[in-house]
Amino acid sequence: MGRLAVLVSGRGSNLQALIDAVHQKKLNASIVSVISDRTNAYGLQRAQIAGIPTKVFPWLKGGCREDYFQQIADYLEDLQIDLVVLAGFMRVLSPNIVAQFPNRIINIHPSLLPAFPGLNAQRQALEYGVKFTGCTVHFVDEGVDSGPILVQKVVPIQPDDTEETLAKRILDEEHIALPEAVELALTDNWRIQGRRVI
Ligand code: GRF
Repeated sequence: MGRLAVLVSGRGSNLQALIDAVHQKKLNASIVSVISDRTNAYGLQRAQIAGIPTKVFPWLKGGCREDYFQQIADYLEDLQIDLVVLAGFMRVLSPNIVAQFPNRIINIHPSLLPAFPGLNAQRQALEYGVKFTGCTVHFVDEGVDSGPILVQKVVPIQPDDTEETLAKRILDEEHIALPEAVELALTDNWRIQGRRVI
């Protein structure tokens, strides 16, 4: 059974989707640890309620990013983690941790990448005026929201959408896409050809 670590910075609804999928036996994996950079991340409480061990690596302002992520990488190695899931983790990983876990870290982003990477993806989509957006689960490389794509779900934009209504509908799709992508990533049923996950 695949051993997962999930990194969260906030609400943790995507973490919850994974917890639920594991409980409902829709996802054959074990969430071994939930890690956060913030002591007050609600995702940590969700983990505790589900009986999952949590660990906080507080982000020190002015600290070294490489050292920070090396500590996390060492912790993940100790736990023999198969797959690391960034679920609303608000920090860009440093190259050392990415290199230590090649194609073993995935991230979820609320747009159809490569459109609208970075912060406020839903607002970016509304402001641009696209008719469709959605969510993407991708492998993490050294860039921001830039690695090979595992799963995408499309969400049509309605004329009366606000950032909040759109974010909510995208989130519903995220909660389907993430367990699906984790399941896929944990198999050896895929290969990466160029940028394509096949
Ligand atoms: C999601 O929209 C995710 O795509 C983005 O951050 C948000 C996290 O939400 N990376 P939650 O903490 O999982 O509820």
